[in-house]
Amino acid sequence: MDTVLITGSNYPYGEELAKMLNIEVVKLYHKNFPDGEKYIRIENPDKIKNRKAIIINTMYPSQNESFIETIMTLDAVDKADARETILIIPYLAYARQDKIFLPGEPITGEIIIKTFRQFNAKYLFTIDIHSPRLLEIYGEYGKNILVSDMLVEKSLSYVNNPILIAPDKGALNRVKYAAEKYGLEYDYLEKYRNRITGEITMKPKEIDVNGRDIVIIDDIISTGGTIAKASKILLEKGADKVVVTASHGLLIENALERIREAGVYKIILANTLNHFIHDPLIAYIDILPRIKEEVSEIL
Ligand code: R5P
Repeated sequence: MDTVLITGSNYPYGEELAKMLNIEVVKLYHKNFPDGEKYIRIENPDKIKNRKAIIINTMYPSQNESFIETIMTLDAVDKADARETILIIPYLAYARQDKIFLPGEPITGEIIIKTFRQFNAKYLFTIDIHSPRLLEIYGEYGKNILVSDMLVEKSLSYVNNPILIAPDKGALNRVKYAAEKYGLEYDYLEKYRNRITGEITMKPKEIDVNGRDIVIIDDIISTGGTIAKASKILLEKGADKVVVTASHGLLIENALERIREAGVYKIILANTLNHFIHDPLIAYIDILPRIKEEVSEIL
């Protein structure tokens, strides 16, 4: 095939994806200099010349290191005369800073995406970006791949005729996508985050969840605060069971314990990160087939 794949050091499934796409892997040599700076080199740059290059890397953990490594790889691929570059970032970090919330802030999500574009990533594919609006910078060459339908499909082995719930209005796009696919009811909670303290308050809207199973769908679980609060509210309002799904399970510090204490029955996560937690409460789904499907369309 006319395409090669290069895996960033933070992404564990590059070779598997290349096999699925039936394309060659071009190796990247990495090292860190004694002062901590990074070095990379494409081991066989001739294999890239005049071919399409897929670069795949994810941005958690080590968001900042992954960012610089990805830009370095884009530049190296460009200088090796690739015909065009397709960048796949399953978890695109910093996308939550998608606007100026408090005066004096940058829009970091925009910085990340503009930089990828500046370094000649023609296409940008990502999974369930926090703010799809950010991808507008990429126009028709940017693709936000939703996997909430796959997460909900998995959840259906734990719940019966559930209501799908977004923990805030901003999360409705992914909830609606899955609800329409499976013909399920859906709704959202009203969340407010104090931008100084980070504290979350949630309004228990008038949703009748009494005796019902619930599947909460979010993009990211970080501290677990959002999910724990939403789950508690829904259980207090009489829900029978709460299953939580998220595309990106960062689950930092004591997030898992917080969610467990809130009474959640199961957490279902996609494998978008280089970070896994082995715990009976958590189940992972494999989204590589979805990435393969989407990328195949442009190869
Ligand atoms: C925020 O709007 C996001 O969609 C997530 O709900 C949020 O980032 C989750 O963070 P945490 O787990 O720290 O509450």
